[in-house]
Amino acid sequence: MVQIVPSILSADFARLAEEVARVERAGIAMIHIDVMDGHFVPNLTLGPPLVKSLRRTTNLEFDVHLMITDPDQFAPLFIEAGANQVSVHQEACPHLDRTLRLIQERGARAGVVINPATPVSTLEDVLDIVDHVLVMSVNPGFGNQRFLPRSLHKIRQLDRIRHERHLDFQIEIDGGVSRANIGDIVRAGCDWLVTGSAVFESADPAATVKEMQQLAGEATAVKV
Ligand code: DX5
Ligand code: ZN
Repeated sequence: MVQIVPSILSADFARLAEEVARVERAGIAMIHIDVMDGHFVPNLTLGPPLVKSLRRTTNLEFDVHLMITDPDQFAPLFIEAGANQVSVHQEACPHLDRTLRLIQERGARAGVVINPATPVSTLEDVLDIVDHVLVMSVNPGFGNQRFLPRSLHKIRQLDRIRHERHLDFQIEIDGGVSRANIGDIVRAGCDWLVTGSAVFESADPAATVKEMQQLAGEATAVKV
């Protein structure tokens, strides 16, 4: 089922539990948590203690996106803190196969992320072990950037490969997702649509999520 996954990056960090509760009322299953280390991307966000605190306030699934240079060291800490799934960047992992297996051994679903400049072909040898693939549709580091349309081509490629190879990984997109492009993204074959500023900077985040869910559902209905 296609899902809208709100990213807390654009939420008010001083009222995080409340912000999560607001979007939870829209009937979502998962929230997206962006971890940035100031090295892999030029921004800093949060660490395991915050995830642990937030874990006590909600039963929603935690989709943790690690934009850090050392995922092997920190992924286990985020899983202990309550992450249900962890995504690591292909560009940050010289031993990607090992890192993905480490995440799964520690009890979380493992995803791989590709930046806009990284082709899908670099994932050929891990697609049979990943639980999901996250396609960045902006250069990571900040919310509220413009969607890069070439990412739609990557979604189509991944959808085709999973059919051809009979694989069942989920396809996720992150960056610049809005009401305007949801239809195209879903029709390209995407399952999970991460959205930050479009939701949390709107007047009524829950209503916005519901509207996005409806648009995604309509696009699913016409998918051929
Ligand atoms: C960007 C983050 C995104 C961000 C998306 O590096 O990975 O998850 O929250 O924000 P929007 O939806 O505003 O582009
Ligand atoms: Zn993200």
